[in-house]
Amino acid sequence: MDYPVVRMRRLRKNSNMRDMVRENKLNKEDLIYPIYFKEGLEKGEKEEISTMPGQFRYSIEDGVEYAKELEAKGLKSIILFGIPKEETKDKIGSPAFDDNGIVQNAIRTLKKETNLIVMADVCLCEYTSHGHCGLIKTYVEDDIYDDTDDGIKILNDSSLKYLVKTAISQAKAGADVIAPSDMMDGRIQAIRKGLDDAGFSDVLILSYSAKYASSFYAPFRDAACSTPGQGNRKSYQMDPANSREAVRECELDVIEGADMLMVKPALSYLDIIKTIKEEFSLPLVSYNVSGEYSMIMAAIEKGYLNEESIMESLLSIKRAGSDLIISYFTPYLLDNL
Ligand code: PBG
Repeated sequence: MDYPVVRMRRLRKNSNMRDMVRENKLNKEDLIYPIYFKEGLEKGEKEEISTMPGQFRYSIEDGVEYAKELEAKGLKSIILFGIPKEETKDKIGSPAFDDNGIVQNAIRTLKKETNLIVMADVCLCEYTSHGHCGLIKTYVEDDIYDDTDDGIKILNDSSLKYLVKTAISQAKAGADVIAPSDMMDGRIQAIRKGLDDAGFSDVLILSYSAKYASSFYAPFRDAACSTPGQGNRKSYQMDPANSREAVRECELDVIEGADMLMVKPALSYLDIIKTIKEEFSLPLVSYNVSGEYSMIMAAIEKGYLNEESIMESLLSIKRAGSDLIISYFTPYLLDNL
């Protein structure tokens, strides 16, 4: 049967009808809020991130206060990033696995003062002097074995030890979920074993499985002061042109012991979200990254778009199949859902 007997518009006739037949809905429970804690800030001293209007670097007191506000509005989970003092950064990212580090202290306070599920990003880039997510070797001009693009090699296996140390230190502080975003091979296996051996077999791993080398992270690197000094992240993060490779990354993470998978970024990678949802049965998280936030915020500020674009873009991530969404729009969504 077809028109004029079939009329699609009958199902859209008013908002009650549309509410009834709506296929996908965003829920407050779907949201994870990314928050930046900066060492050395005093209470009351939050810093607005210039490339991310409405987002701040917080002291522990202020960040925890804000988290409590969001929890009261229905937030279930938060993911933490740390910004250590510049002068403490070194070649191996020591402040990342300092039991008294900024993230560790923030986790302890959050676990004490809220019931939120506390996730901790595991990576070295915010803590290394060179800004890479693992240890590096730099080559001089006459090195025979230099097969790198730019004279810098990110060392996979020797980085694992420090990622494991970071994960254990965060688990000790009380993190519920460890989220490695470094993209070294074998990290999930190494971290799972490290956590289990240290007595943290109840701590989950959310793997940044399909993490692309994306230009949409630019505002984050500004926020977290983690732009690499030399070279780029293309030898460890994925090529935006590839999709089957995302399936392989996820397969390995499942075998290595991940509890949840992630696709990142989200909006330019909706096809990847859909594929991963179809291929795997683990909870799927998507990261609606900094650039995706700033792009819409900039357009709203200029008057090119209105606020409805926020809900629509987040809904597309849900429709593609994501179970959970990490988003800087979380505070807005908690107010508007
Ligand atoms: C750390 C990390 C990054 C993001 C999350 N964890 C940046 C990067 O890989 O350079 C990006 C998050 C965002 O853009 O919001 N490796």
